[in-house]
Amino acid sequence: MGSSAIKRVFVTRPIAETALRRLAETARVDLWDDEMAPPHAELVRRLASADAVISMVSDRFDAATVGMLRRLVVISNLAVGVDNIDLEAARRAGIAVGHTPGVLAETTADLAFALLMAVARRVAEGDRYVRADRWHAWTPRLMLGRDIWGATLGIIGWGAVGQAVARRAAGFAMRVLYTTRGTPRAMASAPTGSQPERVELAQLLAASDFISLNVPLTPETRHMIGAHEFAAMKRDAIIVNTARGPVIDEEALITGLRLGRIAGVGLDVTEVEPIRGDHPLLQFPSVVVTPHIGSASHATRTRMAELAVDNVLEVFAGRLPRFCANPGVTIRSPS
Ligand code: DGY
Repeated sequence: MGSSAIKRVFVTRPIAETALRRLAETARVDLWDDEMAPPHAELVRRLASADAVISMVSDRFDAATVGMLRRLVVISNLAVGVDNIDLEAARRAGIAVGHTPGVLAETTADLAFALLMAVARRVAEGDRYVRADRWHAWTPRLMLGRDIWGATLGIIGWGAVGQAVARRAAGFAMRVLYTTRGTPRAMASAPTGSQPERVELAQLLAASDFISLNVPLTPETRHMIGAHEFAAMKRDAIIVNTARGPVIDEEALITGLRLGRIAGVGLDVTEVEPIRGDHPLLQFPSVVVTPHIGSASHATRTRMAELAVDNVLEVFAGRLPRFCANPGVTIRSPS
């Protein structure tokens, strides 16, 4: 990018102040200062005069939207997942797509484990019970749950988050099975005790007491867990999804819960976000749902914001984003 005119960046939600200030040293920042997303038409309108956008997973950049962005040179997503962006359309348009891998796996794995434990040990249900003033006595059969220690955990997807979940499982003396489509890489720090074992999906489904979903959303992973997979699981299996909602076929999940085919589920993501309070899933006491907060620690969200800014500044300096999700792109010249 040769143009020296001051660059304009639309930031679609408030993000860490330090990152915003750093961005403002180089560019004119147009901040959407509201926790609610800009309406899509407003997003497109603002982007007509922007060189870059720092976007969120809930901002949609489908092919039609990308086709309208005549000036933009970089979409910098504040997320590792980029399923909200048509990468191929962006590549064709000469728009680089940045994302934020490497900084959120441990934080997301923490939440995956929190959900696993909350469902197994009925934490949310117990809290609702106490608040409703229904706790009248200690009794030996009150709120019996499932043991986590020593159980078998199946991890679907052996990327950074899946491996971080496995490291936590080692502390609970769990047997870990995993599936991966690629060549498995050695874990950054291998857990002590038994080694994670790579298996086929069918074996993982049949043998796991807990199943953690850690795959990106792609055409191949959409609804990869549906009626067939639920039927193949142990009847008392507990599923945790911190990846993307559409990885699970929610209709099939509801049926599975109704029929008692699935013991419980912890979801940080749902097919439609935000999930409404009257959604049928929320009627099951064994379902725990959090509002897509896998990476939502103060420190991690700050690191993500800093990376998102780095990605923009790299493009302004004439290079690909530091973490580029469409590396084949030839960034177009600014208009
Ligand atoms: C991601 O990084 O993809 C998360 O889902 C958003 O924090």
